[in-house]
Amino acid sequence: MRKPLIAANWKMFLNLKEALSLAASLSKVNTDGEKDIFIAPSFTNMAVVAEELKKSAPHISVAAQNFYLGADDASSGAYTGEVSLPMIKSAGATAVILGHSERRNIFGEDDAFINRKVKCAIAEGLTAILCVGELLAEREASVQNEVVLAQLGKSLAQVADLTNVVIAYEPVWAIGTGKTATPAGADEMHNAIRTFIGRYYGKSASNEIRILYGGSVKPDNIKALMQQGNIDGALVGGASLNAEQFEKIINY
Ligand code: 13P
Repeated sequence: MRKPLIAANWKMFLNLKEALSLAASLSKVNTDGEKDIFIAPSFTNMAVVAEELKKSAPHISVAAQNFYLGADDASSGAYTGEVSLPMIKSAGATAVILGHSERRNIFGEDDAFINRKVKCAIAEGLTAILCVGELLAEREASVQNEVVLAQLGKSLAQVADLTNVVIAYEPVWAIGTGKTATPAGADEMHNAIRTFIGRYYGKSASNEIRILYGGSVKPDNIKALMQQGNIDGALVGGASLNAEQFEKIINY
């Protein structure tokens, strides 16, 4: 009932030529419409990748990795070096990754800022891929559920409708480390997230919302993850930079 979604987060990798070549390889991957595929290139590569996919693989959507929102939610202004919501939209993004742990932990983005961006993104018709996840120390202190559900509650404050929201659970200790959560361990958190959504948004919202897992997803662990009842897809970093590996993940 929930359509699987496999998303690639290319992070700060690939020059223009490499991004185009990877997009061209991925355009041949056919899922017969049974899965959604999103690709998130860097800002500089996004417009050309979107243009290429529009021609060769319109079933693949482009997501931005972020955008900036000025004071009072300004969507333009004197913010040297930043990229706005109208800019990513006009460059072909139909979705955006928000609240990634790298944004939270390296660039200091907090839940309040992420919440403003989620609200503006969905008001503009984009799909918000909202990332949540605990640090290793938080997992070791057994406070992962409190941490993740607090991130979720604050990032979704005053968001009334989750139709255009996808949640990605990415335990920080599993990102780029080769350590994946066990399928059952990931499913337990996904279940906690779904229960939380049910409590605040009702049963149909909790049944419909897609919850992706991210953190060292590879061709050899995707199947077991996708067999879990509450895992609806994956947000893939490293393995999405290789066409062959990402194709295997899509066709798990
Ligand atoms: P890796 O797949 O490289 O662990 O990255 C996961 C991630 O952060 C996706 O957003």
